[in-house]
Amino acid sequence: MTASLKPYLDSLPSYLSADNLGPWETYLAQVEKVVPMLEESLQPHVETLRRPKRILIVDVPIRRDDGSYAHYEGYRVQHNTSRGPGKGGIRYHQDVTLSEVMALSAWMTIKNAVVNVPFGGSKGGVRVDPNTLSRNELERLTRRYTSEVNILLGPDKDIPAPDVGTNEQVMAWMMDTYSMDQGATVTGVVTGKPISLGGSLGRHDATGRGVYVVAREAARRIGLEMKGARVAIQGLGNVGDAAARIFHNAGAKIVAVQDVSGTVHSGAGLDPQALQVHRRTSGGFAGFPGAEVIDNEHFWDVDCDILVPAALEAQITPGRAERIKARMVVEGANGPTLPEADEVLHGRNILVCPDVVANAGGVTVSYFEWVQDIYSFFWSEAEINDRLDRIMAEAFAAVWEVADSKAITLRTAAYVVGATRVLRARVMRGLYP
Ligand SMILES: NC(=O)c1ccc[n+]([C@@H]2O[C@H](COP(=O)([O-])OP(=O)(O)OC[C@H]3O[C@@H](n4cnc5c(N)ncnc54)[C@H](O)[C@@H]3O)[C@@H](O)[C@H]2O)c1
Repeated sequence: MTASLKPYLDSLPSYLSADNLGPWETYLAQVEKVVPMLEESLQPHVETLRRPKRILIVDVPIRRDDGSYAHYEGYRVQHNTSRGPGKGGIRYHQDVTLSEVMALSAWMTIKNAVVNVPFGGSKGGVRVDPNTLSRNELERLTRRYTSEVNILLGPDKDIPAPDVGTNEQVMAWMMDTYSMDQGATVTGVVTGKPISLGGSLGRHDATGRGVYVVAREAARRIGLEMKGARVAIQGLGNVGDAAARIFHNAGAKIVAVQDVSGTVHSGAGLDPQALQVHRRTSGGFAGFPGAEVIDNEHFWDVDCDILVPAALEAQITPGRAERIKARMVVEGANGPTLPEADEVLHGRNILVCPDVVANAGGVTVSYFEWVQDIYSFFWSEAEINDRLDRIMAEAFAAVWEVADSKAITLRTAAYVVGATRVLRARVMRGLYP
């Protein structure tokens, strides 16, 4: 455990092991940095940030196609609801743990406050590799999981969305299951739904678009021209794929990409759309014209201006941070940079645009989707992209100003902005009973 966290061992909930805190440790270390910078009146309430409000752990049994039964661990964590209903995605991945879902839910609390949408922070997950299930099995898993965590969900209580390993089809099944239990169609219970079921135009690309807007705003401030900027992206899923297309369309050059199938590099730049078609038809990036396959670890040595981690947590270790050649890191993924690596990047004058603002585009358009569902009145894509751009640019400007005035990193500044809003709401509401 990080030395600075030792004083908090005593207040560590008994369901966590101090020897293996996982991503929750990264979150706690980030909180420790910001606590001394918060206003005096908020100090008595900071413990609330270190404890999730509510955790539900469920068993998710399903019948496999061959007639056998399988059981999976499922979670839904509501970290904080001081500012509104819980909001956060559902992850299907074989390595999901309670610590991970706790950290992801806490990052949602901070993120939703940084972009000032009226939500608290939640997250859910099932410890399953979705690629090992048939479509029917995936549907049964999703419906059973939804039914198990149903008591926490609702458009005014807790609203899931897609994350790693889930997509709009999974959201449609979740919405249908919840609606069947209610006896009425409730579209606003999840976001990231198909357009035909109350989804929002622009939601699919929203997180990637937000990553681009933050990169553009940061680039302008450090004098980096977006046209011709060299971009390396880890993870070409919901977030990375959209980001790659939008960077490419803005004139940037995608010089390297990595996903679970491997890593490719091209000094001349890759066309992300053609690369996706190639990956779909051939199962990986290898063999894409003009692209050289490189060793996965070499991804971190690639000469680039902007590095976008858009896969999983804990990818930028201190060792990798020493080798990164980018001028800035824009965190598409949640928690991709370990706290010690953050220090290394800071020391090397590499700007880090933190996850809690850089990937907030998804939840911002999820907020638009929720509002549209409530009013049953839908906006045009241009309107949505416009509002998204404005909210992201304003949130980034506010974070930049705090960082500048206090001479702190953008991450700590984002936590100052987010934690202040959360704790002020907590103070105003008072403590029940
Ligand atoms: N989907 C959203 O709207 C959203 C919003 C905010 C943040 N995020 C975060 O962005 C990240 C990616 O989410 P997503 O929804 O795009 O997931 P996804 O499942 O659609 O894509 C993940 C991508 O990462 C790659 N990947 C997985 N493990 C890898 C590894 N070990 N090395 C290299 N590549 C690997 C996969 O091949 C895939 O291309 C996560 O941290 C998620 O929490 C997602």
